[in-house]
Amino acid sequence: MQKVKKDSDGQDIKPGARHEPDNRILSSEGHGETFASLMERRISRRGLLKTGAAAGALVLVSPITGKINPTSNSALAADGSAIPAVPSAGIRFTPIAPQPVDSQQIMVAEGYSWAPFLKWGDPLHLDAPAFDPLNLTPEAQRMQAGYNCDYIGWHPLPFYDQNSDRGVLFINNEYTNGELMWADYEAANPTKLQADVEMEAHGATLIEVARDANGLIRTEIGSALNRRITMTTPIRISGPAAGHEWMKTAHDPDGILVEGTINNCAGGITPWGTVLSCEENFQGYFGNLMHLDANDPRAEVHERYGISDETSNYGWENHYGRFSVSTEPNEAFRFGWVVEIDPYDPESTPIKRTAMGRFRGEGATIGHSPSGRVVFYRGDDQRFEYIYKYVSDDAYDPLIRGMGQGLLDNGVLYCAKLNDDGSGEWLPLVHGEGPLTAENGFHNQGDVMIKTRMAADLLGATKMDRPEDMQQNPVNKKVYAALTNNSERTEEEVDPANPRAENRTGHVIEFTEENNDSASTTFTWDIFLLCGMPEDENTYFAGFPKELVSPIACPDNVNFDTDGNLWISTDGAPAIIPYIDALHAVPTEGPQRGFVAQFLSVVIGSECASFEFVHGGRNLVVSVQHPGEGGTVAEPITLWPDGVAVPRPTVIQVWKNDGGRING
Ligand code: FEO
Ligand code: CA
Ligand code: CA
Ligand code: CA
Repeated sequence: MQKVKKDSDGQDIKPGARHEPDNRILSSEGHGETFASLMERRISRRGLLKTGAAAGALVLVSPITGKINPTSNSALAADGSAIPAVPSAGIRFTPIAPQPVDSQQIMVAEGYSWAPFLKWGDPLHLDAPAFDPLNLTPEAQRMQAGYNCDYIGWHPLPFYDQNSDRGVLFINNEYTNGELMWADYEAANPTKLQADVEMEAHGATLIEVARDANGLIRTEIGSALNRRITMTTPIRISGPAAGHEWMKTAHDPDGILVEGTINNCAGGITPWGTVLSCEENFQGYFGNLMHLDANDPRAEVHERYGISDETSNYGWENHYGRFSVSTEPNEAFRFGWVVEIDPYDPESTPIKRTAMGRFRGEGATIGHSPSGRVVFYRGDDQRFEYIYKYVSDDAYDPLIRGMGQGLLDNGVLYCAKLNDDGSGEWLPLVHGEGPLTAENGFHNQGDVMIKTRMAADLLGATKMDRPEDMQQNPVNKKVYAALTNNSERTEEEVDPANPRAENRTGHVIEFTEENNDSASTTFTWDIFLLCGMPEDENTYFAGFPKELVSPIACPDNVNFDTDGNLWISTDGAPAIIPYIDALHAVPTEGPQRGFVAQFLSVVIGSECASFEFVHGGRNLVVSVQHPGEGGTVAEPITLWPDGVAVPRPTVIQVWKNDGGRING
């Protein structure tokens, strides 16, 4: 029996909702204020000045046909005005046409090619079994690439050479689709073998790669750096929650060592060469909250984080008591953290860094501070949750590599308050400061971190439309946050930072830290994009002419190319607009600021989960996550990419046919 389905980010959706057309009429009122007036107050003046076709240099492309005017030097805009040639730092590919929701194949921009690169079940070691979909075992899975690839981190070899032809890819494996793995799978009642395979299919995959003479990257099967991190890998706990009463379990009476990591979605890289893998929808793996005494102070915390009163989404509690809150009330507190992993040392023990907060964590991406302190931006992906950043107490020491810095154990976590006038404050989550005191249930910093969300509630952080990935632009130093969507925001709840009721298509906010210092405690912010169909009057593309942009919905992960163009992958577009998920590029500066141009599209049932530029931007890798979701083994909707047996979540590689840089 199919339980309430969760979308890939753990939000409850009704069966079939993924393809439900969105017929809403966007609200135009909020706080007694019209949408237009909200936008006028919060759209930067440079955006307003640029509306209309006279937007300066741009490529004349129809996003619907994907056709570029071959004489773009003398192209005419819709109003007949001349359009100059493409500026050097803008979009240098012809956008593709958006593809239908039932696409069976990847599409990329003309002049580029793609190929599957690493599929679920591919062997990592010379003695690993070949992928056999009819005989999945935990022993084999532990030696093979995990399921549902998401965040990808690029770790060059040697460490300092971003342009190297060699490196290690770190790939999160967020979750599993049992219904696409076994014909006899029942979500509420998996067999023990199925649960064991699923636990080994979660976590992360590390694989060494090399770029060959033809410019393609290949996996180095058998490299000593290849490794799996799974739901059974021992992981140390450090920081203020280590050893906390609520972190102790029957299996770990000291509260310092946890078995495994789960729902690893987004991530980030530290300057000292480690990767930060973030546990997102951990709540979906725990159940039976109703059997915990309602007067137990832990109950309201588990409830705030969304743990189910009844069965979990995966049914592992049928075989392992730690997933049942009634059996082991503390186990769920040991998830929802940032996990630091050293990709250069396969023997190293990963560490959960509890100073960085506990929530449905998106990435932890680096921000620059002239002080040398390290800063990591983070989102909590649930409707009406918050944006955070972590700032270390001390400066980074470039001579220390690996896990030894200590900067992730000693620092301050802040939540973001976005004021209506475009200013903003980072509010510190520090025990003893403001309301974070014993009277309010915070007896120490461990309490503050375990109950991060409740601490941010008390501080008055701004409730956002599902904060996903955030990242600092290496060129203009502004920080971009993807707010993927929030269909539950009402007209009464709109504010300038979340200006649309029933926001089904999401938006992107641009932050400017005071003095461009990521360690600052104040900032300003602007709406950069209001996603959706360009013809929807409530969309906005930084003032760029709407008739020229590609449709885009549900921004999820963001990255930058070396020119500082923002790239955005989407998750959930087919539920809202008549097109499949995609990867887009959009300049953040210059005359093309706001020109959303579609580069790639994924296949039926999948999202365009995460992506990374590797080998100095000469190659691009993209996680095509949960292809075929919506089907089953018995009734598949695709068998991509192999065409046999079952669909396989796959990291693909994309290259430019002339061997040049992506968007070069
Ligand atoms: Fe797994 Fe919120 O993305
Ligand atoms: Ca995400
Ligand atoms: Ca990113
Ligand atoms: Ca996603």
